[in-house]
Amino acid sequence: MFKLPNLAVAAAAIVLAGAVQAGPLGIGSTATPEMIAGWDIDIRPDGMGLPPGRGSVAEGEPLYEAKCASCHGLFGEGEGRWPILAGGEGTLDTLHPEKTVGSYWPYASTLWDYIHRAMPYPAPQSLTDDETYAISAYVLYLNDIVDDDFVADRESFAAVKMPNEPNFYIDNRPDVQNTRCMENCADPANFTIVTTINGVTPTGHFKEDSGVAANHYGDSEPAVKAVEVAMSDAATAGKSVYDKACQACHGMGVAGAPKVGDASAWVDRIQTGMASMSSNAINGYQGPNGVMPAKGGNMSLSDEEVSMA
Ligand code: HEC
Ligand code: HEC
Repeated sequence: MFKLPNLAVAAAAIVLAGAVQAGPLGIGSTATPEMIAGWDIDIRPDGMGLPPGRGSVAEGEPLYEAKCASCHGLFGEGEGRWPILAGGEGTLDTLHPEKTVGSYWPYASTLWDYIHRAMPYPAPQSLTDDETYAISAYVLYLNDIVDDDFVADRESFAAVKMPNEPNFYIDNRPDVQNTRCMENCADPANFTIVTTINGVTPTGHFKEDSGVAANHYGDSEPAVKAVEVAMSDAATAGKSVYDKACQACHGMGVAGAPKVGDASAWVDRIQTGMASMSSNAINGYQGPNGVMPAKGGNMSLSDEEVSMA
């Protein structure tokens, strides 16, 4: 029988089992509690999801040394270019922030979840719950967040407070607090697409004379004005030539043609100057990546049209 509340379970079953069985669509089967348990392994910041079990810092030390230190270093300092797990306190607001479990992560629960879910890198989900408690406790100890006699279990682990938690807070920028429109909303057909000088990232303080207030989100007059993009007549004409005579190669990068929009393919060319690029497009040339045919092969175009394109 097809019942609505079973939809999610049915969808999960398709993914989990991939089994083909009778049903309205002839596919899927009901997910068993074991299947669901296999996916339902997330640990919430308040500790919800932590399984029974325990592990101490002392038990974690040899486990960490055997299973983790080869990549993350004996003290969490990171071997080679493997991630650093400890240290970095006080670096977040410097030019070289070092984001580690201790300096950056807001919740200890994420540590348990991550180690249990993804580590050790070559054998994810191979650790028992007790081992995960012990190793997590040891990583917290390496970060001076717990003492060497700490024993992690559901309660004690959920109670761990991470130093950087207060720096994670609900997004307080004004544009995330708009009221959602649920009825009689504006017709999308009437929307105009505009570009703004600034996106989400405030840039005002990087450029002294940019005219953008340093405090981009202050109460003052909005310093960022929407600008309609208007093309000159030459550009409009150029675009129509481009669409019919150039796009076939330059739109997708066919035959070695530098793709429009791919800045890295153009940056060196632009250095040579407009005159040289126009002349190459008008007269054609053999370049390192392929042949640009004269006028893109469309000899009915005037030189001026090719330049505009
Ligand atoms: C073979 C090398 C290797 C081993 C062994 C290994 N890890 Fe990792 N670990 C990684 C890599 C690579 C990443 C980054 C993965 C990514 O970003 O997708 C990582 C990421 C992590 C992170 C997240 C770091 C961060 O700040 O984003 C933690 C925590 C961690 N590992 C803990 C452990 C623990 C605990 C063990 C032992 C049980 C372990 N790892 C074993 C390679 C390893
Ligand atoms: C048959 C494919 C093709 C068509 C059509 C085509 N191009 Fe090209 N174009 C190329 C290739 C290939 C290159 C790169 C050659 C190289 O540098 O290796 C190129 C390079 C260029 C360059 C860079 C010149 C330089 O100096 O680096 C410009 C500008 C250019 N094309 C403009 C045009 C214009 C304008 C049109 C339409 C009128 C057009 N192309 C049509 C294949 C094409």
